Amino acid sequence: MNLEDQKGTEHRRRAVYSRAVRALRQAGVPNPELDASVIMGFVTEEPPEKVLLDRDRPLAPQQALHYRDLIVRRCGREPVSQIVGYREFYSLTIGVAPGVLTPRPETETLVEEAIRCLEGMAGAPAVLDIGTGSGNIAIALATAVPRCRVVAVDISRAAVRTADANARRHGVRDRVLLFRGDRTEGLGAGGCFDMIVSNPPYIGENEFDRLSPEVRKGDPREALVAGIEGYGLFEPIAEQSFRLLRPAGILLLEVGMGQAPRVAEILARAGFSGLRVVDDLAGTGRVVAGSRNDA
Ligand SMILES: C[S@@+](CC[C@H](N)C(=O)[O-])C[C@H]1O[C@@H](n2cnc3c(N)ncnc32)[C@H](O)[C@@H]1O
Repeated sequence: MNLEDQKGTEHRRRAVYSRAVRALRQAGVPNPELDASVIMGFVTEEPPEKVLLDRDRPLAPQQALHYRDLIVRRCGREPVSQIVGYREFYSLTIGVAPGVLTPRPETETLVEEAIRCLEGMAGAPAVLDIGTGSGNIAIALATAVPRCRVVAVDISRAAVRTADANARRHGVRDRVLLFRGDRTEGLGAGGCFDMIVSNPPYIGENEFDRLSPEVRKGDPREALVAGIEGYGLFEPIAEQSFRLLRPAGILLLEVGMGQAPRVAEILARAGFSGLRVVDDLAGTGRVVAGSRNDA
């Protein structure tokens, strides 16, 4: 990788960018052009789509050095989100940190379905988000449906800290109650939520080693892996959610590719009815929904 000539006095963007793209490609990075622009935008504090509008405009020497260092990190397959410290999710800038899962686009399917259901509920719906991570789901719901209140729980201290910062950044901290805990432990007797959402860990232990270097380096294993086949958390979450939901309350679970039928069975066994599977944009069954219709 030859990024050294950036040390000179000439830091025209076109040249700096082209060298970065070549280095990223050699390192096997999947989208070198996109990553080179996003990282340049982070360094210059400009939108990524504007960094190359005037390709002869130079980078300041400090910016060129900073850019080179970040490109070297990306060549080591550190995810862009961890390098720049954020990821766009549901049109919100969500901060990420070491030890906290980077939000994924497929989780927007869960958010869209949850918003659709919340809009059909009267009053101020109470929502529980189990395994909130960066707080992306909780914050997206609190932002899109201002009359709802969200309780968000995660077992990881780093996740709760990051979700707290994100909720403040988006001005919804007063409507997102955060705490650290194991699933629904400490949430009382039950019957108090109108909706429960969760994107739990659902990768099987044996699958983890086959994930991309970015995922293995950038996301905590505990946020991804749940048992040998990935189903470890669905059953306890379904059973606990059934107790915590009000009659007619709704549970929405994100699932991995091919998991929807078995998760629907788990929900049925826990007492849920009106089971539905919602596809993501790629046509994969991504969300399993059920209602507590026992009133
Ligand atoms: C797949 S990540 C989802 C994070 C975030 N909700 C999102 O959609 O990007 C799963 C999250 O569940 C948390 N988690 C794992 N086991 C948990 C447990 N027993 N109780 C609470 N949270 C848990 C992890 O720390 C992680 O933040």
